Amino acid sequence: MDSLKSIQHIISIKDFNRQQIVDILELAIRFENLRDDRLKGCVLGTLFFEPSTRTRLSFEAAMLQLGGKVLGFADASVSSAKKGESLADGIRVSSSYVDILVLRHPLDGAARLASEHSSVPVINGGDGANQHPTQTFLDLYTITKSHPELLKGEPLKVAMLGDLRYGRTVHSLIRALTHFNVSFRLISPESLKLPDTYIDFLDRENIEYDACQKIDDALEDVDVLYATRIQEERFPDPVEYNRVKKAYHLTPDTLKGVREGFQLLHPLPRIQEISPKVDALPQAAYFGQASNGVPVRKALLSLLLGKI
Ligand code: CP
Repeated sequence: MDSLKSIQHIISIKDFNRQQIVDILELAIRFENLRDDRLKGCVLGTLFFEPSTRTRLSFEAAMLQLGGKVLGFADASVSSAKKGESLADGIRVSSSYVDILVLRHPLDGAARLASEHSSVPVINGGDGANQHPTQTFLDLYTITKSHPELLKGEPLKVAMLGDLRYGRTVHSLIRALTHFNVSFRLISPESLKLPDTYIDFLDRENIEYDACQKIDDALEDVDVLYATRIQEERFPDPVEYNRVKKAYHLTPDTLKGVREGFQLLHPLPRIQEISPKVDALPQAAYFGQASNGVPVRKALLSLLLGKI
């Protein structure tokens, strides 16, 4: 685990090399079902300027199950940001109360800025449409549990579906998967295509991908489908949101004929893009994926607090 020694913050998946990603996934296995007191005396600050269920609660669960404590807020309107305090000042002060911070913020780059003003490690719990790196670690953890061959260099085809433009989980996961032997299918409405910066990256790295708008016949050669919500809160134009909000609705019929071992992932919350009728199918991996947030975040907290 020498590769992990230099990690001070978790801001962007771009900051991690392949070995570090693999080592974090291995570390997370050690935290499956583990409860102990290794984080006794440590306090996690949770600064959530945007709504969250999974990220905030799984970080809290991870901290509590390892003997630590948690303080923070889940709503920006009760913080002094409401009175006009800058993020830099808020971070400078709150980092003096705790041992580690997790921040969710609507602005791209907020977590990086926070790390520059914090006296303790900062974890990005999602910044705007930019990055959600801890989600990516739990996504990879979920994928590699079912497809361990990915870590041995064997090929995997991953389809990304939905909001590829504003979806920070998509942006982080694509960057991480390019360290492995992965090809992509990008399925989205025209207005929610993957931004050019990511397309340029795939081209530069010679990563195979194709793109389409319809899901019909797009899954038969795919191993993993990563579906995402069309995010109303990211649209500058409500007319465009209303035009695309029901672009996809996966049902048991959609998954007929998929490959053996096919996984359907979703960072959640879902709105209408996956029918609840899919939940009982063996391919539906999204609730297990959400549960994997706890061991993965236990590993990340312990790593940054020097307790592995
Ligand atoms: N996947 C995810 O980030 O969920 P929350 O918005 O509920 O934290």
